[in-house]
Amino acid sequence: MFTFVLAFTVACSSGPAPAPSTGAAPKVAAPVAAVVVGPEGPTKIAIPAIDAVSTDPAVVTAGTKVFTDRGCGGCHKFGEKLVGPDLKGVFSRRQIPWVERMITDPAVMVKEDPQAKELFRSLMVEMPKQGVPPEDLPALLAYLKSQGG
Ligand code: HEC
Repeated sequence: MFTFVLAFTVACSSGPAPAPSTGAAPKVAAPVAAVVVGPEGPTKIAIPAIDAVSTDPAVVTAGTKVFTDRGCGGCHKFGEKLVGPDLKGVFSRRQIPWVERMITDPAVMVKEDPQAKELFRSLMVEMPKQGVPPEDLPALLAYLKSQGG
């Protein structure tokens, strides 16, 4: 439910437009806390940074395509568990960098991260790496957020 409150905050502070990318070094992820989640979990992260996730419809549309093209929908739904966990409310239980790492490095996460390990233990399926490039993460997260993530 706090997602909705924060959505208003975002609407008022439209973030900086991403630098035009012309094949230069990819910009990594959303402008969130720089802390990477380690085996100890996300305790060092200062802000949940859900408000750093875009609500721009164009970004959400781009993220919808990433979600579809990468096959996420084969295992995940919103409001219902499929092969993988229900992604509704994911940002209320996880930090943004954790979610990003889960998407880009699921195999490492299920070996090292306590929460990911726990998911794997209960679901008995390992999320495969979907090869999502870092520059696609902001849009993908925007889509998750738009779906109540
Ligand atoms: C083959 C099925 C499968 C596919 C495809 C898949 N996932 Fe997963 N996902 C899982 C499983 C299973 C888990 C739980 C961790 C584990 O057991 O590996 C998970 C966990 C997650 C989590 C953490 C959820 C939570 O409650 O903390 C997120 C976020 C996530 N996946 C997003 C994605 C995205 C985005 C994609 C597409 C790029 C994707 N997944 C593709 C099966 C899948």
